[in-house]
Amino acid sequence: MLATIRDDNGKAATLVGQISRNLMTDTAPQHSLSDLTVLPSLDSERLHLRPIREDDLPDLYAVFADPDVMRYWTRPPMRDIAEARAFLAEIAQHFDARTGFKWGITRKDNDRVIGTASLFRLDTPHNTAEIGYALGSAHWGNGYAAEAVRRVCQFGFEDLALRRIEADINPRHHASIHVVEKAGFQREGVLRERYIYNGEIQDVVYYGLLAREFVR
Ligand SMILES: CC(C)(COP(=O)(O)OP(=O)(O)OC[C@H]1O[C@@H](n2cnc3c(N)ncnc32)[C@H](O)[C@@H]1OP(=O)(O)O)[C@@H](O)C(=O)NCCC(=O)NCCS
Repeated sequence: MLATIRDDNGKAATLVGQISRNLMTDTAPQHSLSDLTVLPSLDSERLHLRPIREDDLPDLYAVFADPDVMRYWTRPPMRDIAEARAFLAEIAQHFDARTGFKWGITRKDNDRVIGTASLFRLDTPHNTAEIGYALGSAHWGNGYAAEAVRRVCQFGFEDLALRRIEADINPRHHASIHVVEKAGFQREGVLRERYIYNGEIQDVVYYGLLAREFVR
């Protein structure tokens, strides 16, 4: 499959040449992540996932400073916009190293960032990655997270030729569990006492989705 993905200026991003999707034989992808010169924007029915820019910092900060959003996150809510700036720098570093991709989630009818979706811990020898997502609480309950997760998984499987995408979730985080289950992820196991969330030792439940199981 020849993938053409448009960057935010509408230019064709130089994403690879031939992309292997020979999932049945587990053939290694015939492209390298370094072929991705820009983070491509992704469209779904209602959403536009795009690179996060400097002028998005106030919106990014608003999402990650909200204690409700950070309830199950492994870092505390941001307290200063400088933390959002440092976060943006980290996102750029991960992209430069091709170890993680993070998109700003916007609605097609409004360019403001309402959340983020990411593929991180990209493990190229094994063609796996982890997925992450967060939405501003004003936007919960509209199905946006599930829509963004499906689109990012499609990118991971079809454009990066990943074989497997995984998510680790606090077992009490029912909304997040529902999001991945809606996208077809399967529950694979529990790691006991894996993290300390807000000073409390917590288990984590692992979910996985294989390329051959993914339904658009
Ligand atoms: C997890 C999160 C992304 C979900 O966002 P959302 O916009 O509400 O998600 P969606 O609308 O796509 O889907 C949520 C689904 O879970 C369901 N749900 C919501 N709260 C629930 C609960 N307490 N128990 C069970 N299901 C729940 C919703 O009804 C919806 O299902 P439906 O589409 O069948 O009606 C959002 O709560 C969030 O950003 N939280 C903070 C960041 C975070 O924790 N990220 C995940 C880290 S693992």
